[in-house]
Amino acid sequence: MRQMHLGLFLLGTGSHVAGWRMPGAVTSFQDIHAIQQMAATAERGCFDLIFMGDNLYADPGAHPSYTLRLEPLTMLAALAMTTTHIGLGATVATTYSDPWTVARAFASLDHISGGRAAWNAVTGSSAQAGPNFGRIHPNHAERYAVASEFVDVVRGLWDCWEDDALVADRASGLYLDPAKQHKLSHEGVHFSVQGPLNIGRTPQGRPVILQAGGSEAGLDLAARTADVVFAVVQDFEEARAQYHALKSRLAAHGRRPEEVSVLPGVMPVVGRTEREALDKLAQLQGFISPGNALQLLQDRLGIDLTGQDMDAPLRDLPLHDGGHGFARTLLNKARRDNLTLRDVYNLLGAARGHWVLCGAAEQVADTLQHWFEGGAADGFNVMPSHFPGGMEDFVDLVVPILQARGLFRTRYEGRTLRDLLGLERPERLGGKALA
Ligand SMILES: Cc1cc2nc3c(=O)[nH]c(=O)nc-3n(C[C@H](O)[C@H](O)[C@H](O)COP(=O)(O)O)c2cc1C
Repeated sequence: MRQMHLGLFLLGTGSHVAGWRMPGAVTSFQDIHAIQQMAATAERGCFDLIFMGDNLYADPGAHPSYTLRLEPLTMLAALAMTTTHIGLGATVATTYSDPWTVARAFASLDHISGGRAAWNAVTGSSAQAGPNFGRIHPNHAERYAVASEFVDVVRGLWDCWEDDALVADRASGLYLDPAKQHKLSHEGVHFSVQGPLNIGRTPQGRPVILQAGGSEAGLDLAARTADVVFAVVQDFEEARAQYHALKSRLAAHGRRPEEVSVLPGVMPVVGRTEREALDKLAQLQGFISPGNALQLLQDRLGIDLTGQDMDAPLRDLPLHDGGHGFARTLLNKARRDNLTLRDVYNLLGAARGHWVLCGAAEQVADTLQHWFEGGAADGFNVMPSHFPGGMEDFVDLVVPILQARGLFRTRYEGRTLRDLLGLERPERLGGKALA
């Protein structure tokens, strides 16, 4: 029986912009002990992976976990030491790094974790990063042109060594088999990388690739290279359309639908009863302050909202250069439900533009099952409103229902993240033996 895949979108202060204000909630994304507890809860719930987003600037007006945070790969190396089964995914933006560094870092994490590393290859949606790198943020098309070549170079670097290149034969003194080491010799438009990488082929062969772009260019890159895709959705029909849009692009790249898992983001607010869940959501929403939700709204829609009438309907806006996925989803939702700017602002404050699913545990499980079986999802990227409460509610109340229905694993099987996702260990791509 086909089963769901569940990812934990881990933001230390919760996905809700004011989740940290809930009684007993974690208030910092810099506390590794609290983060290790979150990972332990996800592993107790048999989740497939933990996923860390990233940003390369501090914006004190924005979401607290996008203002002060630990660097994701450093954090995941620490989590690799306190977890045993769960996948460990981190974002590194292709616009502000280089393929060698990324290939090396994720290969290291894959070795350290015994085959659980995943890279979320994003182009980086915010222009605020530019001044921290002495750069002007490139435009959308340019970012994706760079990203496409970048991902190919990283994959090539991961494949520079054959699995059994390291011989270490004391008797003969042969350390490496020269026939099993390969240069990359990449000369492209944006990158020139000789290789080989200075780390051997990893337990997964290649770390898993995650992607989350919703534009045409983003979907194309995902269809060609991603193993897991995070979708931004607000309702079932839209999720189904996005699911189909991605899966139908795979054949052109010689890939089968089951080679890519599509996981829509969802912020579950769960109670023992519907009333309890609604009360929790109302409590969370009551904590939103005007400043930070407004900042989020400006970022997602790509417009300056100074002086705007918050109670006027959200008008049609062109998709902006920062990111198409979120803006399109929010504009569609506003049009369908006739939302004002204030409504959209409240929606964004709740889950940063992702889908909020509020209800009794049975209702939440029913909806997830409907989406999973109805061709809208292969699983979900779970974005708890706050920690530990929002996560524990999902793991203790919803996961057991999904498991009892046979929709989700009851224990881990396999060794690597690829095993959990039902993915083959990839064959090495070509490569030239070192002269
Ligand atoms: C679940 C999810 C997580 C994301 N995480 C990040 C992130 O950590 N850092 C980032 O710069 N962009 C992140 N993004 C943004 C996208 O990956 C993408 O770069 C952006 O939306 C622009 O691409 P698009 O125009 O193709 O949508 C995320 C998007 C989603 C849906």
